[in-house]
Amino acid sequence: MKADVLLGLQWGDEGKGKIVDVLTPKYGVIARFQGGPNAGHTLIFDGQKHVLHTIPSGIFRKNILNVVGNGVVVDPIIFQKEIEGLLKSGVEPFTSLVISRKAHLITPTHGHLDAASEQAKGKAKIGSTLKGIGPAYMDKTGRNGLRIGDIENPNFKDMYNALREKHIHMLEQYPEYEYDLSEFESKWLSSIEFLKKFKFIDSEHLLSKSLSDGHGILAEGAQGTMLDIDFGTYPFVTSSNTITAGACTGLGLPPNKIGEVFGIFKAYCTRVGSGPFPTELLEKTGDKLRAAGAEFGATTGRPRRCGWLDLPQLKYAVMINGVTQLCMMKADVLGEFDEIKVCTHYVYKGDKIDYLPYGIEPNEVQPVYKTFDCWPGDLTGLREVENIPSSLLDYVKMIEKETGVPISILSVGPDREQTLILNDDLK
Ligand code: GDP
Ligand code: IMO
Ligand code: MG
Repeated sequence: MKADVLLGLQWGDEGKGKIVDVLTPKYGVIARFQGGPNAGHTLIFDGQKHVLHTIPSGIFRKNILNVVGNGVVVDPIIFQKEIEGLLKSGVEPFTSLVISRKAHLITPTHGHLDAASEQAKGKAKIGSTLKGIGPAYMDKTGRNGLRIGDIENPNFKDMYNALREKHIHMLEQYPEYEYDLSEFESKWLSSIEFLKKFKFIDSEHLLSKSLSDGHGILAEGAQGTMLDIDFGTYPFVTSSNTITAGACTGLGLPPNKIGEVFGIFKAYCTRVGSGPFPTELLEKTGDKLRAAGAEFGATTGRPRRCGWLDLPQLKYAVMINGVTQLCMMKADVLGEFDEIKVCTHYVYKGDKIDYLPYGIEPNEVQPVYKTFDCWPGDLTGLREVENIPSSLLDYVKMIEKETGVPISILSVGPDREQTLILNDDLK
């Protein structure tokens, strides 16, 4: 038995939460492998909308074990809030959710360091979600971090205080940044107590055993390939490996135990936060896409930047992740348009290229577009593969040909039911 991976191929918010929820019944374990509360994964079913930040998107299904893996960074306050939300919805997560002892903790001072660094950067800011992600991963790689397993140590409070002191000194480098630690700190410490209601585990052993016992694992990514710390649009990225390789390090899965890789992309592109975005539409068309797709961040509420599908970028993401099956999201949104564009190439240093070069700022690459007929009308009621409009099928076939990977799932609305499965093996 191998573990499958599901991850975003663009700049995040592709619809990972929705598809993990759709696929969950095929698996025994759903495991998050990186990121933290910067993620916002939306699930809609039975007329209810749920947004998850740290908790895997398998949590609403019965008899599934949800694992927060070692590669994740956990903010106890946000985690507690999420759990309280689940309890209100009638989900009992205490036995179906476990946390790796090796996952790192986000402290209140991480949040302040994030905010202070962004403020100091001014116009050059990353556009971080300000959840303390960068500083928490800096402490991890700097070998100063606090881990979930440390909560079990009788000296935990001393360890926390030592890190806190270090951060307070670091914050002195930002004299213009004002902060008050008192309010969040007591809440944070009480949330640490709340966390103890959950089982802390050595998740690498559990996951290895799950595979040998024949229980399928789906590893759920957060963010997207273009936000990867190594392969994204650095420095405008997050601080973890969002790619398939991140599922190995973030869960302790050996590379030869990775099976299918589901790559999720929108039929167009969005990005929230700063950084290059070659196909961004800054005029009315972008506003129209944002309105039609309700493109506002699930974590921060910020408007998402919108643009046309970018094939050199998509092909790059397919290559880096070893994608074996694609899921195309939000085809319904393009129904508002008579014709749509797709970037097939870039002009780079005077040449036409079809790959992603080192720099993709507007002065470095200019997109070359091809125009396609759209599928005007409302697709949200589409349930039968036989009824897919021919212009949409042509779009699907064009992407399959360009990427060399089949599209297995076509999403035509935010609800769990608004999903067409094109690959019979997934039914
Ligand atoms: P994630 O971070 O990848 O899980 O994605 P988000 O939840 O941040 O953003 C995806 C947004 O698109 C959410 O509001 C979803 O409810 C919505 N969504 C997902 N699939 C579709 C779709 O096929 N059509 C439409 N119109 N909305 C969708
Ligand atoms: P999901 O999992 C979209 C973006 C932020 C910012 C950059 C760095 O919902 O797809 P960070 O807080 O990580 O320091 O922010 O990354 N970002 C996301 N954009 N979806 C996300 O997650 C994101 N998580 C971080 O906007 O540009
Ligand atoms: Mg999101």
